[in-house]
Amino acid sequence: MKKSNILLLPALLILAMAGSAEAESISSPSGNFRLETGVDETGTPFYSLDYKGRKLVDKSTLGLVADEAAFDKGFVIAATDTVSVDRSWEPVWGEYSSIRDHFKELALHLESAPGTERPLKMTVRFRLFDDGLGFRYELPLQDNANYLTLRGENTRFELGPEDATLFCIPGDYDTDEYLFSETSFDKLGEAMASYRGRHTESQAVDCLSVQTPLLVKTAAPVYVNIHEAALDGYPAMLLDADAGARSFSAHLVPDRLGVRGYLQLPFNTPWRTIIASDDARDILASQLVLNLNEPCKIEDTSWIKPMKFVGVWWEMFTGRQKTWAYSDDYRAKPGVTDYSSLPSNGRHPANTANVMKYIDFAATHGIDGVLVEGWNEGWEDWASFRKNRQFLYDRPYPDFDIDSLTSYAASKGVKMIMHHETAANAADYERQLERAFSYMKEKGYDAVKTGYVGAIIPRSEHHTSQWMVDHARHVIERAAAHKIMVDSHEAPRPTGLCRTWPNWLAQESARGGEFESMGGNPPSHTCLLPFTRLKGGPMDYTPGLFETDLSYYGEGKTDKAGTTLARQLALYLTMPSPMQMACDLPENYERFADAFRFIEDVPVDWSDTRYLEAEPGRYITVARRDKASRDWYVGAITDENGRRAEIDLSFLPAGEKYTATIYEDAPDADYRTNPQAYRIRTATVDSRTKLRQPLAAGGGVAMRLQPK
Ligand code: NOJ
Ligand code: CA
Repeated sequence: MKKSNILLLPALLILAMAGSAEAESISSPSGNFRLETGVDETGTPFYSLDYKGRKLVDKSTLGLVADEAAFDKGFVIAATDTVSVDRSWEPVWGEYSSIRDHFKELALHLESAPGTERPLKMTVRFRLFDDGLGFRYELPLQDNANYLTLRGENTRFELGPEDATLFCIPGDYDTDEYLFSETSFDKLGEAMASYRGRHTESQAVDCLSVQTPLLVKTAAPVYVNIHEAALDGYPAMLLDADAGARSFSAHLVPDRLGVRGYLQLPFNTPWRTIIASDDARDILASQLVLNLNEPCKIEDTSWIKPMKFVGVWWEMFTGRQKTWAYSDDYRAKPGVTDYSSLPSNGRHPANTANVMKYIDFAATHGIDGVLVEGWNEGWEDWASFRKNRQFLYDRPYPDFDIDSLTSYAASKGVKMIMHHETAANAADYERQLERAFSYMKEKGYDAVKTGYVGAIIPRSEHHTSQWMVDHARHVIERAAAHKIMVDSHEAPRPTGLCRTWPNWLAQESARGGEFESMGGNPPSHTCLLPFTRLKGGPMDYTPGLFETDLSYYGEGKTDKAGTTLARQLALYLTMPSPMQMACDLPENYERFADAFRFIEDVPVDWSDTRYLEAEPGRYITVARRDKASRDWYVGAITDENGRRAEIDLSFLPAGEKYTATIYEDAPDADYRTNPQAYRIRTATVDSRTKLRQPLAAGGGVAMRLQPK
């Protein structure tokens, strides 16, 4: 075998290697990680990963299988290349103004053993960083494989032999809007069974599938995040657990025919990623997933603007019986019925007068945008999934005067945000897409929130199958062509593609704040999302809930949110997103105007970030520096237990005094009994200050630090 760039080897040398196991190894730049890879006696590719001298991932198989060809055994190593890379890049927005991309790469070039009738070629490319590993399969153009009907991957993650703590949600093909289970391999079956009936894919639960990003805490402990990067042209990956063996294997989301994907060679798969550290803070700080994505493909990014927004939205969740639909007449058919002849149901908040109030509120409080849901024809029957109508994306309801609202918003310096709920009719959305985006631009809209509630039609694809991955990518590319920013809900979970397409400001793709009115989110939920879901990209979590008791609205709902008010402010730091909602009603913000001041002030784009404390599901404390000023912000949250956050301000420049404005839980605050009890105080701090900040049960703290 030849190291270096030479791919073709003398036949004799290859013959000598056939049938014998071979291995190669590299270490990460600091030496923390050591990767071993090669082929075993059957020619099956494998890898293993050591962390700080201990086995983290035991020898695990690699490969993929298609109807036309199997890339999982019978290989010899034809050549290997290694290269060391140390470079940085500047994201358009994010947690850091500059990101270091520092790794050792090993490309394992495999060929079928000599004598194979229809020899195949495949490269497995590994990138070993100081925060973990990425690897992908590269299928070059070749004589014996062209078009592949993909059946699965042979990728495994052998985490044994000891049991580990798993933070996971069930391997549903269609939704990720679940609370996490904190469980173990031994108890995974029980944990997943508890979701039965609440998910849309029972089969995935039966085979002990979980979704990525998955967080594992090993016995050592080492924190391990398993996910994927640059999911493009391929189905999303779930993980099937083999509980006894303490291992996971890749489970690619199929289409309804059971096919995992249709690939045209040459093709590179997404990267499989393993972020690991014995310090939980490193998982949060890791930029590995972004580093494995392609650089930005948008040349002029000056139109991409991080933003905060309010919206005609929470009104529909409060139990006041407000509707997205204009009419209660379910026979209404857009494009057929003349809506102006239908009576409004009188419970439709997306009306001109009400939207103007939101615009006024945004203008008064320096909030960049206003989202309006329920503005367009088609909502009459949406929740029963399109029995007799479709959404139209250029047809406002008669009580939504789009032209006057556009000029009114412009006169106040506020941007309107469009909403495209598709009710999962993705095919129809594609048909209307160009018209929909042109219409947005004609009306002065630069950002859209998309949604895919329901079962994908008309092709009966899954939300995370290859077809929907392709759809999401198509929408984002077309949006970029129209200079439109996107916040997608119910789309395939993010894998860092926002580096390549920074107009993809945010996604939902997890159980968001809206569930505070649908059963609630325990405080531990937001202590887990940054370790899991957020490793793929920012989440439109919709923080800023001030009225935490839904019975306040007097009708129907009795939900109590799993949070104190101060904690909602901290979420702007612990759940970073360049598109951040202030989700509550303007009237509730008027009631707590001094606390709302923090939401007015907090930036959504950062030049630096320091994770000060972290333990998955328990607590997170983070400091971030504003990209546009010298201000720092600190946010800390805890689970259902109160705690003292240890906030060491040594990241501040030495010798400089700062005024800290601290939005904290009052001493008697508790998310169950007294959630709205908060205090605002100021203190002078500097780099030697160490704050011992009490957080209430389910509470948090948010701080703004301004140079004096
Ligand atoms: C589900 C989304 O997550 C939510 O934000 C939206 O309001 C509804 N769909 C209606 O589109
Ligand atoms: Ca949703």
